[in-house]
Amino acid sequence: MFAIMNGRKGCDFMKYLKMNNGLSIPILGTGTNTFGKEDNDFNGKITYDTKELQSAMKLGYRLIDTAIYYRNEAVIGKAVQESNIDRKEFFITTKIPEGKEFTKNNDQVTYYVEKSLEELKVDYIDLYLIHFPLETNEENLRVWRVLESFVDDGKIKSIGVSNFSEEQLGYIIKHSRIKPALNQFQSYPGKHQQSLIDFCKANDVIPEAYQSLTKVDNSTKKKLTEIGKVYDKTWSQVILNYQVNQGLVVIPKSHNEQHRYENIDVFDFTLTKEEIDTIKEM
Ligand SMILES: NC(=O)c1ccc[n+]([C@@H]2O[C@H](COP(=O)([O-])OP(=O)(O)OC[C@H]3O[C@@H](n4cnc5c(N)ncnc54)[C@H](OP(=O)(O)O)[C@@H]3O)[C@@H](O)[C@H]2O)c1
Repeated sequence: MFAIMNGRKGCDFMKYLKMNNGLSIPILGTGTNTFGKEDNDFNGKITYDTKELQSAMKLGYRLIDTAIYYRNEAVIGKAVQESNIDRKEFFITTKIPEGKEFTKNNDQVTYYVEKSLEELKVDYIDLYLIHFPLETNEENLRVWRVLESFVDDGKIKSIGVSNFSEEQLGYIIKHSRIKPALNQFQSYPGKHQQSLIDFCKANDVIPEAYQSLTKVDNSTKKKLTEIGKVYDKTWSQVILNYQVNQGLVVIPKSHNEQHRYENIDVFDFTLTKEEIDTIKEM
C-alpha cells in the first residue's frame, strides 16, 4: 500500500502518492479528452479554448491527463503557460498511441515524444504512458526502452503504461531497466478490476482509474447517493473518495464548473468499513 501524503505549496488539501522512483504524484487530477474541442466532442475541431482548464487550475487541479490521441496537448500547454502557476506545481501526463504510425520504429517513437514536449511547451513531461499495449510484449518493451532513454535525458520524469493486463505489465516489470511507475486503466463501481489493482500494488506500480464516473449505471448511482447522504456528498464524490482511499489516482473530467468543484472536494469524509465493502462488491 502506498503512503498518502498531505499537500504542498499551492494546493494545501491535495494528497500525493510516492511512486517507485521516489517522485510524487497528485492523487487526483483532471481528465481532458474533450477539452479545448468544438462542442466538447472527442472528435471535434480544436478550439484552443482554455477556460475550463483555467477553472480547474483555480480549483486546485494540478495533475492534467492528456494524450497524443486526444489532439489537445497544445491546448494543455497553452493553459499551463497562461495560468501564471509555476510549471513545477503541475503534473502533466501524456501518452503515445500504440498504432504503427507512432511506434513502428524507435525513430518514430522519438519523434512523437519530442513532439509532445513541443506541443505541451515544456522542457520535461512528468509522466509518459504507452496508451494501449502493442501487438506483442517484445514490441511493448521496444517502445519502453525508447521512453527509458528520455528519462535518462531528463525530458521525462516518470514512465508508465495504460490498459496493460497483469501479464503485459509483468513482462515490462521483469525486463525493464526502469520499472513502470503507474498503470492507468478503466475502473469504476461495476468494473473495479480488483485483481489488476491488487497486482499493481503488489508490484509497487500505482493504479490510476479512468472513467470512474461515466460508466456507472443508474441503480449503482442510487445506492451511492444513499451512502453519500450521511456525509452530504454526491454519488460521484463517494466514488472518488473510495478510489483515492484505495490508493488509486483518479482523473475525473467535467465540462460543468459545479461538477469540477465537487470532484476535487472529496477529501473531508471517511467511509465506514461496511460502506467500503459494499462499494467494493458493486
Ligand atoms: N487511458 C485511456 O485509455 C483512457 C480512456 C478514457 C479516458 N481516459 C482519461 O480519463 C479521463 C476521464 O474519463 P472520461 O472523461 O471518459 O470520463 P469520467 O471522468 O468518468 O466522466 C465524465 C462524465 O461524467 C460526468 N461528470 C463528471 N463529474 C460529474 C459529477 N460530479 N456529477 C455528475 N456527473 C459528472 C461528465 O459530465 P459533465 O461534463 O456534464 O460534468 C461526463 O459526462 C479522460 O478525460 C481521459 O483523460 C483515458
